[in-house]
Formats: sequence, structure tokens, C-alpha cells
Amino acid sequence: MSEGRRPDDMVRITTPEQADAFIEHQYAAIREQVGDKKVLLALSGGVDSSVVAALLIKAIGKQLICVHVNHGLLRKGEPEQVIDVFRNQMRANLVYVDATDRFLERLAGVTDPEQKRMIIGGEFINVFSDEARKLKNIEFLAQGTIWPDILESERGIKAHHNAGGLPEDMHFELVEPIRILFKDEVRVIGERLGLPKSMVYRQPFPGPGLGVRCPGAITRDRLEAVRESDAILREEFEKNGLAGKVWQYFTVVPDFKSTGIKDGARAFEWPVIIRAVNTTDAMTAEVEDIPFNLMKRLVERITTEVKGVNRVLYDFTPKPTGTIEYE
Ligand code: XMP
Repeated sequence: MSEGRRPDDMVRITTPEQADAFIEHQYAAIREQVGDKKVLLALSGGVDSSVVAALLIKAIGKQLICVHVNHGLLRKGEPEQVIDVFRNQMRANLVYVDATDRFLERLAGVTDPEQKRMIIGGEFINVFSDEARKLKNIEFLAQGTIWPDILESERGIKAHHNAGGLPEDMHFELVEPIRILFKDEVRVIGERLGLPKSMVYRQPFPGPGLGVRCPGAITRDRLEAVRESDAILREEFEKNGLAGKVWQYFTVVPDFKSTGIKDGARAFEWPVIIRAVNTTDAMTAEVEDIPFNLMKRLVERITTEVKGVNRVLYDFTPKPTGTIEYE
């Protein structure tokens, strides 16, 4: 199955009936491939791995073992949602690993963005393979590879090997049930499988997570300011109808402080930068026109609710010249 290619004449999956036909076909294919053996999956809570998890849970139940690694750089409420949806609602076999301390210790004092990315990616493999070693008799590894990943790696744009990086001695046969799908099709399948809309239609979120939104050396207090301000921004966008309209929106807390006043006293604290952009392919991006009243509400909430923050700035820069993320 993992070698499968998208047939040239395959109709784009848009309707519930088409989704059901694909799902039924995959259940049979998965069962035929893995038999009664166990399958391991790194479940991040992103769209692709969540849809793969849901498909496999329904196809083979407890033969699937999901590992959710919390690297401490996830958004507020994300690990809780993964546990709630997969362990509590879908009754999945889920191993939850809180590796926050391990990641933050390795990242302490590291300022270079690419080095930060390498540490986060490398440590993820370490934590995941540590967990995999504890589990016995696993022959299969499931992955949320999708069709654009295959095309991009074939064209040499991006090396796509989600499994790549696992230690040499770990050999798994891959299970890639959404390999021939485009992203919009994955979302249709996810909804049909009963995943929450907030998971299926969520905005893009980078692998290194909030780590790249805490520019320079990551500290726990500044990371917390990023997480809390991001949660407020998401909540307000949701309430004001912007959540489904804006392609990507988040906050950044740069590593500098400025003078301010709180409760009549000098407050030397960080600013929060808000970024909200629209794009079709992330190669270029336009800034969202946020209503002024919403902006005032965000300033009010962030400066009163987020510890260590005394200003809120809006980034008006399109891509180019700015990239979407800050690192
Ligand atoms: P930039 O900042 O390059 O971002 O304009 C374009 C899109 O890519 C996402 N992004 C990443 N995704 N790992 C990821 O999985 C990364 O290291 C990474 N860096 C940027 C970014 O969120 C945006 O959607």
C-alpha cells in the first residue's frame, strides 16, 4: 500500500459518499496489510496524523499504538485535545509522553533558528524511538504522508521522510493510508470519521511549534507569554468570525523589553506581536485587515491577562519581505 500512486483519473473526494467509499476501501487494505500485527504512529494532533489515527483505530482498534510526544512547544489545550479525542472518545491505545523538560533543557541558551529546529527535530526522534523500544513486537509504522509530500520529494523540493531519522536498527514496514490524497480530501475524510472540526480545519502549525515564535533563546516565562497570547488571539478570532477566514494567525514574543506603566508603577516588559496572514501556497502572503475594535480588545486582553507583557504590536508586513514565521 505504501508504494501506491494516485491514479491519474482519480476523482477528487469532496462528498460524504466518496469519502465513505475511500474509507471502506482503506479499512480492507489496512487489515490485509497488517493482519493481527501491531502498528505504531507518532500522533501530533495535526490534521494528517489525526486522520491516519482515526482510520487505523476504526480498522484495527487496539493493534494501533499512538504515541503523542508533547515537546512543550504545543499550543494551549493541544495535548489535552489529543488525549480527549483519541483516548477518551475513540478509545485508542495512546501513550502520552510529556517531554517538555527534556526539550527545554536541550534548547536552553540556543539562539540560532536552524539549530533550534535541528534540536527539536532530533530530540523528537530520540523521544519517539525511546518509546518505540519499550514496546515489543511492532512491525509496522503508520505515517500521515499525503500526495503533495510525495510530489515534492520526487521533484527534489523537500525531502519527505517522516520515518527518516529513526535509528538504523529500527526497521518498520510503512502504513500510509492517506498517501494518495490531497489535503482538502484528507479533511473531508477526517470529518466523515468523526474528528472535531477544530482538528480537521485547523490552521497550519509548524513542527517546531511555539519554539519559532519565541525568537532567540527560549525561556519558560517568555514561552508561556507566547502560549497565553496565542490562546487569546485564537479565542477572539473564533468569536469574531475570523478563525475560518484567515489562513494563519499567531503571536510572537520577541526577546526585548520596553518601559511601560502598570498600576501606576514602571513595568519593564515584553511586547506581543500579532501576525495574521492570508495566502494560497505560503510562498507569498497578504496581511489581514483586522477591525480596529477587535485590535483594541486584543490589546486590552493581552496586556491585562498575559504575564510580563506591556505592549501589543501588529505586524503589517506582507511576504515578501517578511516570512510568515519569525524564525
Ligand atoms: P515561512 O515562515 O517560511 O512559512 O513564510 C511558510 C509556512 O511554513 C510553515 N513553517 C514550518 N512548518 N516546520 C514546519 O512544519 C518548520 O520548520 C516551518 N517553518 C515555517 C509556516 O508556519 C507557514 O505556514
